Amino acid sequence: MTETRSVVAGVGSFLPERILTNAELSTMVDTSDEWIRERTGITERRVAAEGETTSDISVKAAKAALDAAGMTGADIDLIVLATTTPDYTFPATATQVQAQLGAGGAAFDLQAVCSGFVFALATADNFLVRGQAQNALVIGAETITRLIDWEDRGTCVLFGDGAGAVVLSAREVEEDGPGILRTYIRSDGQFRTLLQTDGGPSATGTVGHLRMQGNQVFRHAVNKIAEAIETVIERAGVTAADIDWFVPHQANQRILDSVANKLGIPPERVVTTVATHGNTSAASVPLAMDVAVKDGRIKPGDLVLVEALGGGFTWGAALIRV
Ligand code: UT7
Repeated sequence: MTETRSVVAGVGSFLPERILTNAELSTMVDTSDEWIRERTGITERRVAAEGETTSDISVKAAKAALDAAGMTGADIDLIVLATTTPDYTFPATATQVQAQLGAGGAAFDLQAVCSGFVFALATADNFLVRGQAQNALVIGAETITRLIDWEDRGTCVLFGDGAGAVVLSAREVEEDGPGILRTYIRSDGQFRTLLQTDGGPSATGTVGHLRMQGNQVFRHAVNKIAEAIETVIERAGVTAADIDWFVPHQANQRILDSVANKLGIPPERVVTTVATHGNTSAASVPLAMDVAVKDGRIKPGDLVLVEALGGGFTWGAALIRV
């Protein structure tokens, strides 16, 4: 028996050139390399150059993913771009990317902050499986450092810029074949003020700065992420032992360790890039995925688990056979 699934046809990513180290941050705010590494696992992060926009880095990541898939922009009939840092309030950054790639169909942005890529994956999967698109680009891209208050040591040490992209193709596959097996997304607005910007077009007419009650977010993260993972695993009829690669949202090494430990996923099966990428919000999962595909860890046939939690709160997980 065959079924229609969204199959990963290619992965790509792009990081801005400029590296911001913990040492440099220590000259800007009252912090230290030791504190940042111990509490977060981060040693450096990237910062987009002046004039380098979310659409610029999205196009670079998308082109890399298209190359890996052996496709061009003309093959794409859906772009779902997850970002919290669009080029402009409107139109959607996805339309800018669509124009630059020469893609057709529909293109729109999706806002679920750090969970954006998982939400975008779930959204595109539904369009593909319903036969409403053939080849989708799912992009997670952020110039999140533009929202940072560089005097707030509680947040400025955490975040970085980057973009990752995945090409998904609707294909008829056998039951044990490749594709997205399950997705699960959730939101709970009662926690929205724990991680938010203090500005926006309608409320203040400004962009605002990122504000986070980090320890409160941390308290919720492990349990909510574990709940999402347990749900996709159960619904897909697999166990944690079947997972070849766990590619979590890269917010904090301590959160990744706690989640993996709670679910019994051994550390050598966890893809971590937080040390050199920092928290790149919606870009972190596809960036990490690309690293593990490029270095040969993720291979065809592997079962890959992704998850994220972000502002809103939003959270979710997906299981993909690559
Ligand atoms: O991606 C979206 C989801 N986001 C997350 O998952 C982030 C979740 N939160 C975290 O990763 C952690 O809560 C942080 C890394 C943000 C903070 O670590 P923490 O262990 O929760 O520290 P804390 O906020 O409880 O602060 C402990 C102390 C405070 O000082 P006092 O009040 O104990 O004197 C902070 O002022 O650490 C201080 N502190 C710093 N010290 C040096 C906060 N930021 C810094 C800093 N350098 N950069």
